[in-house]
Amino acid sequence: MKILITAGPTREYLDPVRFMSNRSTGKMGFAIAEAAVARGHEVTLISGPVILGTPPEVSRIDIETARDMLAAVQKELPEHDALVMCAAVSDFRPKITTCHKLKKSTMPPVIELIANPDILHCIQPEKGNRIFVGFAAETDNIFIEAERKLKEKGLDLIVANDITQVDAGFEVDTNRVTLIHPEQEPEKLPLMSKAALGEKLIEFIESKNKANCTPSDAGSV
Ligand code: C5P
Repeated sequence: MKILITAGPTREYLDPVRFMSNRSTGKMGFAIAEAAVARGHEVTLISGPVILGTPPEVSRIDIETARDMLAAVQKELPEHDALVMCAAVSDFRPKITTCHKLKKSTMPPVIELIANPDILHCIQPEKGNRIFVGFAAETDNIFIEAERKLKEKGLDLIVANDITQVDAGFEVDTNRVTLIHPEQEPEKLPLMSKAALGEKLIEFIESKNKANCTPSDAGSV
């Protein structure tokens, strides 16, 4: 399969040196990319600014802002069979970005924000038979929030993680997640390495892809 994966944070600039971002390091998305390559898939990884090296055989596209990521996903999606939106995309950006550095004396005391486009929402019309997997990093009402996002964003699976735990979510090498599928009981997974979770998600994509194949496709090379 050809699998498109997004990873890392986005940066939303106020001026050339200052930006809004988040704690994402890209570890989870890069682990999924490695797992996909290890199982013989072709992988394109769209990454925000992170300090990780590109895994072997992965084709990488670097972006900075949420709007750059949207453009890259829209360009790449037609060539891919599955999308894993692991990136922590900034929901908002400063309304005004200046091309010169703001002086301390002219820095506005309040920064007005506007909403970024929701990438999964924008590409929903292109889903077709493609498999879409999303992530939901939550601190409260984890399952309710994740199930809402699963439906609103038209996903086949959402990976919900409680980012209040020290051994799960941002920056660490382990994760503790619940997989939420449409019309099924949530599947609570134990603490595991991000590498092991990456393998599990690729296995899900493979089995979903097999189930999506029509009988006439079965057996074709
Ligand atoms: O930010 P939120 O919790 O709604 O993100 C959940 C999912 O939606 C993640 O898979 C994330 O990559 C994706 N997302 C997106 N576009 C955004 C924000 C998040 O596709 N602007």
